[in-house]
Amino acid sequence: MLKKITLKTVLITAVLAASATAGGHTEIEQRIGAMKAVVGEMRILGGMAQGKVDYDNLAALSALETMRNAVATAQPLFGTPPVDGEETRAMAAIWEDGSEFDAGITTLLAALDTAIAAEPADLASFGPLFGAVAGTCKACHENYRAPEE
Ligand code: HEC
Repeated sequence: MLKKITLKTVLITAVLAASATAGGHTEIEQRIGAMKAVVGEMRILGGMAQGKVDYDNLAALSALETMRNAVATAQPLFGTPPVDGEETRAMAAIWEDGSEFDAGITTLLAALDTAIAAEPADLASFGPLFGAVAGTCKACHENYRAPEE
């Protein structure tokens, strides 16, 4: 019994350490933290896509890679359906049979992988790659994230 508890503690510690940058303690807090990291990188990339800041290929690549890590961190943290009283905008549809939710995350990861592998050298090549990434956010939020209260 003692062994089991110890192993569980070790696993939990490892998961928490892996997502330390996401902050928070519950799974829900951690995934919201990871999603906030995602949007932080989106702001940097969106600024370049819209020409508000000069396109910088190294900065773009680094932001794409950081975002990929944050999305990969968030993906396994969507195991917990909303519990009464806990703050979350995740909709129950995520855990319903036939949900396309996980496919949506995988699509986002694939769009990021494509953009990273392309190493876009200029704004013209970056634009469509960024568009593919950005399109996945709205598509999923429409179905699976509740509106802000
Ligand atoms: C496959 C579905 C899916 C995709 C793709 C997705 N999100 Fe989310 N996102 C969610 C869900 C569900 C939540 C709500 C999590 C919660 O509250 O427990 C969320 C939460 C967030 C939050 C936190 C909002 C808050 O409550 O403060 C941000 C920011 C965010 N997403 C940004 C993005 C951005 C930017 C992208 C695209 C790069 C993206 N998301 C792609 C499903 C998705």
